[in-house]
Amino acid sequence: MKNIMRKKNPSCYSFLLVLHLVFTFGGLFSESSEDEYTSAVGDPGMQRDALRVAIEAWNQCNEVGDETPGMGSPRAADCFDIYQHSSQGVKKNCSICEQFPYMLVHRVTEADNKLGVGDPFDEGQPEALNNVDLYAAEKEIYLGTKCEVDDEPNPWQFWMIMLKSGNMDTYAAKCPKDGHKVGPYGPDPRFPCFGKGCMNQPLIFHNYTTLQGPNRTTLWGSFYGSWDLDANVNQGMEANKSYYSVTWKKEVGEGSWVFHHVLKTSLKYPWLMLYLRSDATMGFSGGYHYPTRGMSKIIPESPNFKVRFTLEVIKQGSSSNQFYLMDMGSCWKNNGKVCDGDVTTDVTRYSEMIINPAVGSWCNPDSLEYCPPYHTFPDGTRVYRNDTTKFPYKAYHLYCSPGNGQYLEKPNNLCDPFSNPQPQEILQILPHPVWGAYGYPTKKGQGWIGDPRTWELDVGGLSQSLYFYQDPGTRPAKRRWMSIDIGSEVYKGGETVVEWTVSNFDIIIPKIQVKGRKTSLSANLFS
Ligand SMILES: *[C@@H]1O[C@H](CO)[C@@H](O)[C@H](O)[C@H]1NC(C)=O
Ligand SMILES: *[C@@H]1O[C@H](CO)[C@@H](O)[C@H](O)[C@H]1NC(C)=O
Ligand SMILES: *[C@@H]1O[C@H](CO)[C@@H](O)[C@H](O)[C@H]1NC(C)=O
Ligand SMILES: *[C@@H]1O[C@H](CO)[C@@H](O)[C@H](O)[C@H]1NC(C)=O
Ligand SMILES: *[C@@H]1O[C@H](CO)[C@@H](O)[C@H](O)[C@H]1NC(C)=O
Repeated sequence: MKNIMRKKNPSCYSFLLVLHLVFTFGGLFSESSEDEYTSAVGDPGMQRDALRVAIEAWNQCNEVGDETPGMGSPRAADCFDIYQHSSQGVKKNCSICEQFPYMLVHRVTEADNKLGVGDPFDEGQPEALNNVDLYAAEKEIYLGTKCEVDDEPNPWQFWMIMLKSGNMDTYAAKCPKDGHKVGPYGPDPRFPCFGKGCMNQPLIFHNYTTLQGPNRTTLWGSFYGSWDLDANVNQGMEANKSYYSVTWKKEVGEGSWVFHHVLKTSLKYPWLMLYLRSDATMGFSGGYHYPTRGMSKIIPESPNFKVRFTLEVIKQGSSSNQFYLMDMGSCWKNNGKVCDGDVTTDVTRYSEMIINPAVGSWCNPDSLEYCPPYHTFPDGTRVYRNDTTKFPYKAYHLYCSPGNGQYLEKPNNLCDPFSNPQPQEILQILPHPVWGAYGYPTKKGQGWIGDPRTWELDVGGLSQSLYFYQDPGTRPAKRRWMSIDIGSEVYKGGETVVEWTVSNFDIIIPKIQVKGRKTSLSANLFS
């Protein structure tokens, strides 16, 4: 529609860029400190009409594995600029101008989105052309160049919708174990797989953003699909078929984008993930060992950052829905050094707060291996997990240790060695009074169904206080969070439907951190 209109009546348009609302920090910090804070994301509060959004799909070990025929490489984007008719057009009695006050110009074509392994594109590395995993990483960078918005201190590209299936074919030996290649084995009841081909990439369909509504002032678009390759997703959800959709909607010039998510698991695909991420705009993002593109033009660093967003949970799914109010991903080596792409020594670090009240605590006095070795209270006091009177067991769902940790405290429970290209460490927390000091939920049910809220989480403070493993005597790693996201992981749930919306997302940091960071940012990420 957008291009046809332009051809029909070019004199009507003067391509005035619609200025997006300047976002202020009123309410979050006191008046006097307003100037001292800034946003770490390219689109603070999701207020920018000219949206930048992309989608990516990962298999169990965060690769592609095999492309789905007809879908191309599982990376796609929806990025457009929006133009308003000049008042001149209206004076000239241009009826089409009155009927369609705005016009969208998309930057990413269908041909771009359908690019698949073997299709060359500008700037692509030759070795990536015939390797599905490398190709997807390159395609993400290519889409990033089309979507990029110049900004200070760094340009940015898009919000990232992330899809992942936990299916794993152990006989296909596609996933390394803690970063080391291993041969076929099985069966392994930890991983679902219905048989050959169970690690397929999903169908990804795209409704490009268009202007809708009686006045053509409602922006609306979506990505949707299924992992079941025989699904007819145009009919919405079908019995026994997986489904996902992310629909974004906004009134031109008003408020925030609202991202509406639906995720449905099926018997064949019982372990699925759907997140909305603010990823690093360069370097690696959490759990991804290739250069990435994203929305975080500044990488937030513990302890000084906050995350604000509005979350409404509409359908809660089952007790297997690990809904993450906040999920963050980083990477550092066990000696505290920054990750460099060596998958045997890089360690992905994740922390998540699960707000589904049906999810309980695996950490308890009789299962210390599921608890971190100690808990740190906001005043700095440390309590060991064997201190049964003081340790807040119910604040933790589970802790698991990195498989390559050489000096782990005993007892311990090693993290899944397959579900990441490299070893990982995960700390999953639950609503509990100990997190209240950081603005997190203190009681089960807060922020859940029927309780939509705008959260202002002191993610920086909390993430600084959490336990993460390092070799004894090594300098503590800088905790820099390349991925901050919200969403659902349904873990072996049978048929479960989860539905939620996210809006007003922002990451807020002290301005002083920006100034000192500009040059070290790229150096740190690539070194
Ligand atoms: C504007 O268009 C209307 C309807 O087509 C017509 O009646 C009117 O005379 C036009 N005015 C000018 C200034 O051209
Ligand atoms: C459309 O525009 C008219 C006139 O400006 C206004 O009265 C009406 O509320 C608008 N409708 C919507 C759905 O925005
Ligand atoms: C995509 O667009 C079609 C046609 O307008 C519509 O029927 C369908 O509901 C849309 N799907 C999503 C998930 O937005
Ligand atoms: C869904 O699966 C169940 C259990 O296998 C079966 O009884 C039912 O007929 C299936 N429904 C459809 C619509 O295929
Ligand atoms: C509790 O754990 C700490 C740290 O591992 C250890 O030093 C201490 O001896 C333990 N206390 C008891 C009573 O087991």
